Amino acid sequence: MFKKTVDYDKFSKVYDKVREGNPEMVHQILDGVSLSGSSLVLDIGCGTGNNTLLLASTVQANVIGLDISQGMLQKAYEKQSQILFVQAPADCIPVASETIEFVYMTEVLHHLPDIPATLHEICRILKSSGSFCIVTQSHKQIDRRMTSRFFPASVAVDKERYPDIDVIEDLLFKAGFSAVNSKEYTYSPVRLGDEYLETVTKRGFSMLHKISNEDYEKGLEDLREAFQQSEVLMYSADYSFIWATK
Ligand SMILES: C[S@@+](CC[C@H](N)C(=O)[O-])C[C@H]1O[C@@H](n2cnc3c(N)ncnc32)[C@H](O)[C@@H]1O
Repeated sequence: MFKKTVDYDKFSKVYDKVREGNPEMVHQILDGVSLSGSSLVLDIGCGTGNNTLLLASTVQANVIGLDISQGMLQKAYEKQSQILFVQAPADCIPVASETIEFVYMTEVLHHLPDIPATLHEICRILKSSGSFCIVTQSHKQIDRRMTSRFFPASVAVDKERYPDIDVIEDLLFKAGFSAVNSKEYTYSPVRLGDEYLETVTKRGFSMLHKISNEDYEKGLEDLREAFQQSEVLMYSADYSFIWATK
């Protein structure tokens, strides 16, 4: 059996009810890379394929999705059987060395059991001058999340799971990458409504599985209270895009 940190086979049953592909994120990724019709692109930790499908429908390149979870991949395959979806752990990718032009991962890094080994593995499969993009959140961005207001215990949990940006940059250099740089991107503000409450109620954010039941119930009660009081909860999600070249 592959080693997993969160049970995504179980989570796959509700994942698409609480998460969607993110066109703005995919647009940001594609802005940073130049691809041709023959390029091979690998989406590591592709999950149910939401961003894989968005990206594949925007570019001519050949896009492959890779994930450790059979349950997540099954959902992805049901949506689009033309894309190759592969089950494998990110630190042991069944791909020959120097074959891929572009690798990206969205909201995956904090789940990986061995980040240095994974970065070495990605460097191995990339062609010379190939690009790699990690989409994650910095510790400051974790502080700014709406979940951090209602579930303050999740902040420490996630700062433990998410390496901060300077740490990731350092690991990339150590894995053999060059031209490492990062930029933050803030999405258009949205008013959080019933969908957000539903996501939280279904514990649709992985850190909500890692805090105590007491902390979770208290945060949920405070959130429901905010909605009952018709408080306007405006939120601009923000992410860090870390780019590296082999
Ligand atoms: C938060 S989901 C992100 C899914 C997708 N990238 C997205 O943005 O919707 C994290 C994904 O990483 C996958 N994952 C976790 N550990 C992994 C590993 N060691 N190797 C490959 N995939 C992994 C999980 O199965 C899950 O599908």
